[in-house]
Amino acid sequence: MPRPMSTTSIDPTLDLFAEIEELKRSRKAVILAHYYQDPDIQDIADFLGDSLDLAHKARDVDEAEVILFSGVHFMAETAKILNPAKIVLVPDLDAGCSLADSCPADELRAWKAKNPDHAVVTYINCTAATKAESDIICTSSNAEKVLRSIPEDQPVLFAPDRNLGGWLAKRTGREMELWPGTCQVHITFSERKLCELMAQHPEAKFIAHPECEDEILRHAAFVGSTKKLLDYVQDDPAEKIIIGTEAGIIHTMQKAAPQKTLIRAPVVEEGTGCEACGECPHMKLNTIEKIYVALRELQPRIELDDDLIARARRPLERMLSIA
Ligand code: 13P
Ligand code: SF4
Repeated sequence: MPRPMSTTSIDPTLDLFAEIEELKRSRKAVILAHYYQDPDIQDIADFLGDSLDLAHKARDVDEAEVILFSGVHFMAETAKILNPAKIVLVPDLDAGCSLADSCPADELRAWKAKNPDHAVVTYINCTAATKAESDIICTSSNAEKVLRSIPEDQPVLFAPDRNLGGWLAKRTGREMELWPGTCQVHITFSERKLCELMAQHPEAKFIAHPECEDEILRHAAFVGSTKKLLDYVQDDPAEKIIIGTEAGIIHTMQKAAPQKTLIRAPVVEEGTGCEACGECPHMKLNTIEKIYVALRELQPRIELDDDLIARARRPLERMLSIA
């Protein structure tokens, strides 16, 4: 697959924000971005959302011919599956996800074969090939609704996030077989440091994403998807809130509630790099420079064969129709 020209070839005198605006017009392109992107990318996006909102938006893109998806690979694949007539560009093809990596399609197929009477509910954080093996997809926004749509007497395999699955099992009282995948970012929060922080700020509320470990979630006043956490920050009367999710969302939270004090939940002490910063190293591969080059070159693109699109689309459409 052709790769775009390197960002080192960019003329340093260019105003990239103006260039991107011009390219959006000339290429008939829209930029969709996840809340975990750097602030400057969030600010130039035509549409900013969590996984569910972005899937809906990608499916509904009509006039534009090109979708530039600034998120991670499985999200851009989802856009292509739901709107295959569009050119779907990504700033960096290497922007992966530890959850998607944990659950290859052949391993899910083998798990299904051992449990043939189970419904397979798969978190959207997986590859197109893994989606194609699933009965229904969910996101962190609609997981409870999706699970409740499965007949109560039918056993369920839930993949790939064991933390989201464990949280759902508790909320619904439903036992499920859980795939052992985790998000490499959301499992880094430290319970000991969180408790110290909460003791320092007794008036603060702690909110968290369900990809966090159970030992973290049990301290949360509210657990929800990225968008639901954003809504909570806007709507709850608390003036000080500790945020237990990827730190990129705090940019948009702070814009939505400028008067509030938002504190990043602390991560484990080990490590000095991105594994200890509460930020997703895959999401952070995307840059304004790469977005500019992708729009200029119309590369790199998500390419999927028609058969895979058809098979992966079925469980996605089933999700969108009920949630
Ligand atoms: P949501 O966008 O559904 O909150 O998921 C978070 C996430 O980790 C995306 O990769
Ligand atoms: Fe995957 Fe976690 Fe990064 Fe989301 S934050 S893309 S779940 S590694």
